[in-house]
Amino acid sequence: MSTDIHGADIYTAAERTGIGKDDILDFSSNINPLGIPHSVKNAAIKSIVHSNRYPDINSRELKKSISAAENVSEDWIFPSNGAAEAIFRIAFFLRPSKGLVTAPTFSEYENALKASGTNVDYYFLKEEYDFKMQDDIFNKIKDGVDIIFLCNPNNPTGQLIERATTEKIVHVCREKGIHVVIDECFLDFSEHKQMYSMTDFLHKYDNLIILKAFTKIYAIPGMRLGYCMSSNERVIEGLNLCGPPWNVSSIAQAAGTAALSEVGYIEKTVEYVSAQRKYLFDELNAIGVKTYSSNANYILFRIADTLRDIDLKEELLKRGILIRSCSNYKGLDLSYYRIAVKTYEENRLLIMALREIAGIK
Ligand SMILES: Cc1ncc(COP(=O)(O)O)c(C=O)c1O
Repeated sequence: MSTDIHGADIYTAAERTGIGKDDILDFSSNINPLGIPHSVKNAAIKSIVHSNRYPDINSRELKKSISAAENVSEDWIFPSNGAAEAIFRIAFFLRPSKGLVTAPTFSEYENALKASGTNVDYYFLKEEYDFKMQDDIFNKIKDGVDIIFLCNPNNPTGQLIERATTEKIVHVCREKGIHVVIDECFLDFSEHKQMYSMTDFLHKYDNLIILKAFTKIYAIPGMRLGYCMSSNERVIEGLNLCGPPWNVSSIAQAAGTAALSEVGYIEKTVEYVSAQRKYLFDELNAIGVKTYSSNANYILFRIADTLRDIDLKEELLKRGILIRSCSNYKGLDLSYYRIAVKTYEENRLLIMALREIAGIK
């Protein structure tokens, strides 16, 4: 049974503490604090009556909406059962011999690669550069590597990769026949999305695959909806063939289509998250933990020496608050934690609990 691998496991936390799962304040998963848009909820509820028939195997309406929103051809889109499913399908279709991932990063790239028999190499992001990618990544992009996974902004560090670097990586990789998967699942939370997204480069580079999710930005992790995009139609076709059909439920298809008709929701989210992220940074810095700048709806921090003998996750859980210990991220250790940016009221409760644990009035 998978426990404690990712955040969001309120079920295990509830089982262990006896606190009801609805009463746990979950800072361990990074979901839009504004919640599910009403139109999305309504579309999902309305679609339930159609559950007596199979979903559209080609997700036609959803693809049409994604195509319009992303300005890419419908033929370049593969809708998936959450972005995680796309990651596994990519690994199982391409079956690379050697893959490169950064560390720390979202662990499912490595898990998917290993499950498909790939040897995995790591590019370690360095704490001294606030975990920002440096040009020495190019020392790792060698002949023999077949695929690279990049996360932009990176989970759990929140750092963006400079557009010039991403572009150069994709370019160099194309010359070497390497596929580049860029996970932009959290990019919608950034004020700088347009400057960093590589979607405009899909037409130029057929070795590029971009991953997106409805999960975080539309707050629907329970529905399981993501997609990936590539101008390499052989890849899109292969992703369709290397897993079961009907991978996206009719409820998720309806919810996704409604989400993309929302006007102003992402802008409102970016503004809210940005203000709350600043609030959390200010408060965390006042408590004396080391924070790392973030362009997403989460913050990585490292506890001060004075707090090192405290298991912060356990201490907060006693108070009904769940945060993400980063001890199982390659390249991090027990002193690192990640918290989501939630609503002001929720963020305030977390800060009050942290101040109490740190013995600050
Ligand atoms: C960077 C990143 N990509 C993809 C995923 C998977 O998203 P989904 O829930 O849509 O499968 C996650 C989940 O936490 C993530 O952090």
